[in-house]
Amino acid sequence: MAKKDLNIGIVGYGFMGRTHSNAFLQAPRFFDLPYRPVLKAVCARNTERAKGFAENWGYQSIESDWRTLIERKDIDLIDVASPNDTHAEIAIAAAKAGKMLLCEKPLGRNAAEAKAMLDAVEAAKVPNMVWYNYRRVPALALLKNLLDEGRFGRIFHYRSQFLQDWTISQDLPQGGEGLWRLDSSVSGSGVTGDLLAHNIDMALWLNGPIAEVSAMIETFIKERKHSLTGKMEPVTIDDASSFIGHFRNGSTALFEATRYARGHKALFTLEINGEYASARWDLHDLHRLEFFDHRDEGRLRGWKSIHITDSDHPYMKQWWVPGLQIGYEHTFIHQVADFLTALGKGEEAAPTFRDGLAVDYVTDAVLDSAKNRQWEDVRA
Ligand SMILES: NC(=O)c1ccc[n+]([C@@H]2O[C@H](COP(=O)([O-])OP(=O)(O)OC[C@H]3O[C@@H](n4cnc5c(N)ncnc54)[C@H](O)[C@@H]3O)[C@@H](O)[C@H]2O)c1
Repeated sequence: MAKKDLNIGIVGYGFMGRTHSNAFLQAPRFFDLPYRPVLKAVCARNTERAKGFAENWGYQSIESDWRTLIERKDIDLIDVASPNDTHAEIAIAAAKAGKMLLCEKPLGRNAAEAKAMLDAVEAAKVPNMVWYNYRRVPALALLKNLLDEGRFGRIFHYRSQFLQDWTISQDLPQGGEGLWRLDSSVSGSGVTGDLLAHNIDMALWLNGPIAEVSAMIETFIKERKHSLTGKMEPVTIDDASSFIGHFRNGSTALFEATRYARGHKALFTLEINGEYASARWDLHDLHRLEFFDHRDEGRLRGWKSIHITDSDHPYMKQWWVPGLQIGYEHTFIHQVADFLTALGKGEEAAPTFRDGLAVDYVTDAVLDSAKNRQWEDVRA
């Protein structure tokens, strides 16, 4: 099949700038795709660093203002890989300029921003996707298939956690490069939008919409020095966030995210319990799916730990040979491959901005519930 060039302009060269750039380069090497991503330009405010990034990853040019980037006629797609306070402004302007959009999560700092972004891409009719990359973990794609096949029967429980420990020190400043996540004017919220958003997107995908939530948030360290002002300032993010709730399918929800769970670096876990079967997964062993089927013969019934490396597992036949694992960076490669495949067919690739907005409706409800100390309905 003849491959068409798809010219990429990326905003941001941080953590996600690297995962995305790697994915654009690797996806067409491992998947047969109708488009070939061309790394046209990287945009960041620090020109020297942008140059170094461009050389390392093979970007053809650099820009220091995203407005110039989106005006360029030789760019087809804008990839927003910069902090949360930039997402709405860049994505809305890029959609108006007719560019396709990939945007990091959370889509907006809140649902109002995400809604404006959705309206912009829908008005411009441009293909769009949010980088909720964990949907492309092969073990979780397999779990989705098993759920869709009805193997679990009626679902009773869904529980999920995201545990980290990197903000425990009182001396850690807030705000500025690398620490923008602790400044709510940039991030929108703390762990609710940063971590819990991943758990929620996964849950909505696997188990359907969440109807209502009752939440609790906590800020353990009340004041931190701000990197940009040098002054001690109140901390306005949530350090920990948890909620109970109901899914529309009648199952119950139990969610928790924190950056104060000493010893845990990025422990994303989930478990789902149905009438016939249960499954659980965790990011530290992302190539395994734990599965229990009550319909197995009684003497042999028990939890299975399925090693997701065989060619009949999602995505795996594109990789090595059975028994050999893949990892975190592959989730982004799969997402690029799925986006380009869908683009070739004129179809949408989920999660779209509409799916991103659905997550923000839940995170808004979580924050409102915690603030108001009452149950909140989630907007449909
Ligand atoms: N999908 C995931 O698992 C995942 C993981 C980490 C981060 N994220 C999301 O990705 C986004 C970026 O996070 P990160 O960890 O890569 O952050 P980072 O701090 O490592 O990098 C941010 C980059 O954006 C640049 N930047 C900031 N403001 C800019 C502007 N106005 N114009 C151009 N460039 C600008 C910075 O210079 C830096 O290169 C955030 O929205 C975050 O929530 C998603």
